[in-house]
Amino acid sequence: MNKRGFASDNNAGVHPEIMKAIESVNSGHTIAYGDDPYTASAVKKIKSILGEKAQPYFMFTGTAANVLGLDAITKPYHSIICAETSHIHEDECGAPERWTGCKLLSLESPDGKLSPVSIEKHMYGIDFEHHSQPRVISITQSTEMGTVYTPDEIRAITDYAHDHNMLVHMDGARISNAAASLETGFREFTVAAGVDVLSFGGTKNGMMYGEAVVFMSEEFACDFKYLRKQGMQLASKMRYIATQFERFLDEDIWLKNASHANHMAKMLEEEVMKIDGIRITQPVQSNAVFAILPKELIPILQEAFFFYVWNEATGEVRWMCSYDTTEEDIINFSSLIRKVMN
Ligand SMILES: Cc1ncc(COP(=O)(O)O)c(C=O)c1O
Repeated sequence: MNKRGFASDNNAGVHPEIMKAIESVNSGHTIAYGDDPYTASAVKKIKSILGEKAQPYFMFTGTAANVLGLDAITKPYHSIICAETSHIHEDECGAPERWTGCKLLSLESPDGKLSPVSIEKHMYGIDFEHHSQPRVISITQSTEMGTVYTPDEIRAITDYAHDHNMLVHMDGARISNAAASLETGFREFTVAAGVDVLSFGGTKNGMMYGEAVVFMSEEFACDFKYLRKQGMQLASKMRYIATQFERFLDEDIWLKNASHANHMAKMLEEEVMKIDGIRITQPVQSNAVFAILPKELIPILQEAFFFYVWNEATGEVRWMCSYDTTEEDIINFSSLIRKVMN
């Protein structure tokens, strides 16, 4: 039996309805490489959510979505401004730099968010050939620190970017958690807030695998099919990604799953706040709880419920809830924390 824990929303299994969706397309032959009715239908569904101009391309991983999405909108002499905690900066093994040739310009950001004021730091050397040229601002929604940008905060960044001849990429690996938290649809804080390219995630919220790069205009999408193939992300059996997305985008899956995960994180925060000696370090706005507790207790807790230390220096830990976290998990875990703290 697999142990339960709070390490990652990727550690949860596949939602049963997604499994059923996969099963439902698993008969007969259909044209490969996305030229099939399931892919057409999933594309139509994404367009119905994000608007007719949205151009989605399915692929396997979130890293690939970020890297190839960024590749499509940059040249190697460009730079990409991002938070120092961002996945593209910290957790993609340098793939964005290797693949795009761009320099990543990171910014200190304790809550995982950027703003026009913080971005300003990297806005120099424009038109100077000795300096990489800032071209993209990449933000993550919800952020790696579990916080959520409001649509107005995103609009401020996209306005700033567009005023400076730049574009905005959004890493939406946890886009559903953000939407559930904001109590909006996806459109309000993406295309309607001026985002140019979106990595639309599903895996962390109940899908087996599959992400989409969505371009909000034809300009960058027009030759992306070649970049995706060169990037080794053109799935031959595309129907299995497409059908997951189509089912996932029903509100009874994405919204229910994400709301539940967020709710579990809130419950964990509330339980932990009752225990003396633990400090919650970030506002709990999505499905992650960050905390600092006595370092020597961490391995004891990890034995029972695995989770990661987020920051070795400070001893900050991350507890991630997922669509299948139960109230019982929260009660058992918080009781254990209370026990070891006493
Ligand atoms: C914010 C964020 N973006 C992107 C990814 C990339 O996902 P993958 O592991 O599928 O490449 C992750 C995965 O942890 C993530 O947390």
